[in-house]
Amino acid sequence: MSTKLSLNVNKIATLRNSRGQNRPNVVDVALDCEKFGADGITVHPRPDERHIKFQDVYDLSSIIKTELNIEGYPNSKFMSLISDIKPSQVTFVPDEPGVLTSNSGWNTQLHQSMLTELNSELRLHGVRSSIFVDTDLKNIEYAAMCGADRIELYTGPFALNYSRDKEDAVKNYINASKLALELGLGVNAGHDLCLENLKFFASKIEGLLEVSIGHALICDAIYYGLQKTIQMYQELLK
Ligand code: PXP
Repeated sequence: MSTKLSLNVNKIATLRNSRGQNRPNVVDVALDCEKFGADGITVHPRPDERHIKFQDVYDLSSIIKTELNIEGYPNSKFMSLISDIKPSQVTFVPDEPGVLTSNSGWNTQLHQSMLTELNSELRLHGVRSSIFVDTDLKNIEYAAMCGADRIELYTGPFALNYSRDKEDAVKNYINASKLALELGLGVNAGHDLCLENLKFFASKIEGLLEVSIGHALICDAIYYGLQKTIQMYQELLK
């Protein structure tokens, strides 16, 4: 069974927002991502809507044919979006409103009762739940006790340590995913995965169901598309 690629389109929205119009069009890009082979689309509407706006999520939800994964901090605005849309999957992240990007997983022991309630709410909506965690085994045990369907392993530290010693960098992730599987949790992963480290990570994590990738993939898409695009513009000037 191969690992599914959910494409995080936040960066497309960041680019669009920088000019205040609708280029690139997030919905069109997401549809093309599906056409070009993505297994799912991920969005992370933040309270300040600095990239994906809540309206984008409504627009995407009616048109996406693969799985829509909505990640975010579960405040009341986020949860009412979820109850309106009922996406395939929700990934709860513990971000403070001002953080640049998700930079840690939940302390699932501390937030056990809140996460348990939220997971029950998702179950009522028929939405799969996933909780963003680091590799601390206690957090994974408590994620299972909170009734989550899956965890998403925060791979930032893996990516950071990969070039120094990749076997060492992945060690805790192997242990964490083994425990998750024993506890009946599905395993997703995301953050800072890229062309250099993805194959190694996926080969080491047994049963890895899904990776969610945004930043590096969009950077690579610009880079690999640059040559052809410059030529297209030069053609027009001949
Ligand atoms: N998973 C979560 C919970 C995230 O917040 C992000 C970034 O929005 C990602 C995965 C994707 O990370 P990256 O953009 O580094 O691929």
